[in-house]
This record gives sequence, C-alpha cells and structure tokens, in this order.
Amino acid sequence: MKARWAVEIVGTGMAVPRRVVPNEEFTKHLDTSDEWIVQRTGIRERRIAGPGESTLTLSVGASQQALAAAGMNPRQIDLIVHATVTPDHQLPATACELQAALGCDWIPAFDIGAACSGFVYALVCAAQFIVCKMATNVLVVGSETLTTITDMEDRGTAVLFGDGAGAAILRPSADPQRGIIAARLGADGGRARAVWVPAGGSAEPASIRTVNERLHFMKMKGREIYKFAVTQMDTLVRETLAEAGIGLDDVALVIPHQSNLRIIESAAQRLGLPMDKVSINIDRLGNTSAASIAMALHEAFEGGRIRTGDLVLMVGFGAGLTWGSALMRI
Ligand code: ACO
Repeated sequence: MKARWAVEIVGTGMAVPRRVVPNEEFTKHLDTSDEWIVQRTGIRERRIAGPGESTLTLSVGASQQALAAAGMNPRQIDLIVHATVTPDHQLPATACELQAALGCDWIPAFDIGAACSGFVYALVCAAQFIVCKMATNVLVVGSETLTTITDMEDRGTAVLFGDGAGAAILRPSADPQRGIIAARLGADGGRARAVWVPAGGSAEPASIRTVNERLHFMKMKGREIYKFAVTQMDTLVRETLAEAGIGLDDVALVIPHQSNLRIIESAAQRLGLPMDKVSINIDRLGNTSAASIAMALHEAFEGGRIRTGDLVLMVGFGAGLTWGSALMRI
C-alpha cells in the first residue's frame, strides 16, 4: 500500500513541568474527591507549569530531545509547525520564539490553533509542505499550558487539564510505503462555544471587569463535548480505515487525544478495539490538548510499542469543535 504522503518520523521528544499535582491537592479547596476524578475521568495526577515554565520552555525541551534523537542540529530544520492554544503571548506566535530559542535561522515558523486536534492538524500540514517540496526537515510540536487558562475555582474543569509538550521531526521518506496513508481533518464552528475562553481576544479585550468575572478562563459544556468526542472518535477511526481500505486488526497502535479515559474506552468498545492497542497517558498527565497525542507518540517509540513498518492511527478531537486523524506507516 503506497502512502498518500511519503514522510517519516526521524526523532521524537517530550517535556513536562517539574511539579506533579495528584488529585488529592484539589480536595483541599474544591468539593471533589480522588474517587470522583478517577472514576469519571481516569486522571490520577497531572503536571502543572510553575515559575520559569511556559508553553515555550516545554516546546524547547521537547524539540531539543527530538533533535537529539534524530541526530540533527537545529540548523537542519527548515520549518516549524507548532500547535497550541496557550501561546506564551498573544503576539508573536510561540513558534517564532521557539525558532530563536533553538537556533534555527530564519526559517518559517507558525502556530496552529486547533486545540486538542492541533498535533494532527500540524502533522498533516507539515506533510503537505514536504510533498510540495517547500520544506525537508520539519519540526512538528504540540505544546500547551492549559492550566494557565483553567479556572482553579471551578471543579468542573480544574481537575481535567495538565501541561506538557511533544515534538516530532518529519522528513521525506525514500520508501513510498512509509508515511501518511490516510488523513481526515474537520471542524464544526457552529459549536465553537462548547468550549471557549470568552474574554482576552478582540471580541472582548481583557479588562478589570472580564478578569473579575473570570471570563479569561475556559468555559466548557462537559456533557456536550463528551458525547461529541465518543461519536467523533468512532466515526473518525471508521472513516480513516475505510479510506485506507484496511481493518483495525492491521493497526498496531491507536493514539487518541486524551480528554477522558471513559471517552476513549466507550469509543474503543463501539469499535471493537482492544484497550491494549490504545495508547493512554491521561492517568499521569491529564488532558494536555495539542500535546497529548504528541507525547503519547514519543512514549510509544520510547517504550518500543511501535516500530518501523507499523501502522499507527492518531485521532484528535476538541475545541472548535475540531477533529483530525492520521493513519501513518512508521
Ligand atoms: N468533583 C465532584 N463532582 C463534580 C466534579 C468534580 N471535579 N465536576 C463535576 N461534578 C459534578 C457536577 O457538578 C454534577 O453534579 P450534579 O449532578 O449535582 O449537578 C455531577 O458531577 C455530574 O456532572 P457531569 O458533568 O454530568 O459529569 P460527567 O460524568 O459528564 O463528567 C466531565 C464530567 C469529566 C467534564 C465529562 O463530561 C468530560 O470529560 N467531558 C469532556 C471534556 C473534554 O473532553 N473537554 C475537551 C475540550 S478541552 C479543549 O479542547 C482545550
């Protein structure tokens, strides 16, 4: 089976903040419990960025690790595609600051804001640049500090999110079988406010009032997203496999976005997908949005769960609402 876009991953990396926050910490100031959080979400602990840590510093850590794994120096990178909805600053793109921090000279660098689908969007985007011969060695990063836009007084969201970054270096593959076999991207902007940050943008610039009303924090319709995520993961997996003309048995590992263990388990059950073929990091890291698939991909390589020639299916879904999948022969 020839790949639609013949590209290969030559190195991956990840970085997380130093501070580990177990569920018990939330019970000190919120009406919640470790039992509720574990049963309803599968989360046991997460990493939360502290002083001196930000989306940029996590992206730098993950990217340097990916460069080392690839045996490359920063000057060999000729494009940075950086997925985040929690940039260090509203202006400029964190990708540009990453470019400078890594020492990649004057190459194009931009952010993609597709929330939890961000890494898949970035990967597919990077593959287009490569097949169009606009770039050769592309650094693809999914990085977030979602806890910086999370209202720690709201038990409905406070316990869900964590911070982290994952990176992968993509380049053209000489083997036409390796690369992205099938991919799907989509969005439903009609449901943009199912999860959103009301203030701080041009529609409602930050003011003392917006801060007092906590409008600079994420608001989320949890149940609505839950239902969307279960059906969307199921649909995406089916459509992507159909496009490739293969079955789930052919796939070595499914890497879904980690928003809730129950979402993943429900979708897996509907698909008849055994959980030992599904990558999970939400128990240790919480929902890290664009970073979740990127970090799980790195962990899969590190842990020897995927090897050259394996088929890996990445599936993301989140705010936007957005969704994206990429079936890749590694
Ligand atoms: N501790 C204790 N009780 C809680 C907590 C908590 N941390 N959070 C909510 N509850 C309560 C609610 O208040 C509610 O109480 P009530 O029945 O008295 O009203 C009860 O638990 C049930 O609430 P539900 O919202 O129905 O609980 P649910 O089982 O749906 O779990 C959750 C909530 C975990 C948020 C789930 O809906 C979910 O995971 N949704 C998807 C979230 C998601 O994926 N977001 C991704 C988008 S983020 C992005 O893209 C950046």
